[in-house]
Amino acid sequence: MAGTVDGWLTEAQARALYDAARRVAPATVVELGSHLGRSTIVLAAAGASVTAIDPFPDDWRYGRPDTEERFRSHLARAGVADRVDLHVAISREVRDGWSAPVRLVYVDAKHDMWSCLDDMRWSRFLTAGDAFFVHDAFSSLGVTLAVLRDTLTTGRHTYIGRTGSLARFVVGRPTAAQRARVLREVPWFVRNLVVKVLLRLRLRPVARVLGHHDTADPY
Ligand SMILES: C[S@@+](CC[C@H](N)C(=O)[O-])C[C@H]1O[C@@H](n2cnc3c(N)ncnc32)[C@H](O)[C@@H]1O
Repeated sequence: MAGTVDGWLTEAQARALYDAARRVAPATVVELGSHLGRSTIVLAAAGASVTAIDPFPDDWRYGRPDTEERFRSHLARAGVADRVDLHVAISREVRDGWSAPVRLVYVDAKHDMWSCLDDMRWSRFLTAGDAFFVHDAFSSLGVTLAVLRDTLTTGRHTYIGRTGSLARFVVGRPTAAQRARVLREVPWFVRNLVVKVLLRLRLRPVARVLGHHDTADPY
């Protein structure tokens, strides 16, 4: 069902999120950035209680006056509306008033470095060893800078691996080797940037040489 909703989550990424949510269900999962509900449906279908946060802004990128209405109708169609608590707000506003335990966080909201770093602070509601995911971790400049800065400077999160550019972290101090693991993804990020430029220049055959066979950007 989630596959029929427009969005940027790939099938493999949906599977990774679903499996992680399944492991903690029916506990609370917080999703930052819901758009039309593609990932929300995946998390709720796994049986988790999903807190979905999105201000549904009227901006150039995601804004349409009916986005919230479409989000709600997609959830109803998927039969998961009763497992989703929607906050039409920016993530920081909700976090400032939050006190309940959370078992999984999915970060896919604003993609500039400072907003993404701020969103990663939701991990303080998780317990050591709990997972959180960041979408576009190695395909969007702002998110990639946030992930690098967080791993190299705060020492609160350990990078485990990725599905495409969906990065998985756990709460806990990384060793030096674990910090280095994130640096080893930088060539993959550069490759994704090059692919994005090639697609905009309509040079798909060249992008294929780099292993990108889709018409959409690498996520
Ligand atoms: C990439 S989309 C999310 C896609 C969604 N997770 C999916 O699977 O289709 C990013 C979303 O973040 C939302 N957003 C922007 N700023 C936000 C903020 N400060 N807090 C929460 N969501 C935000 C946007 O409105 C947009 O819907």
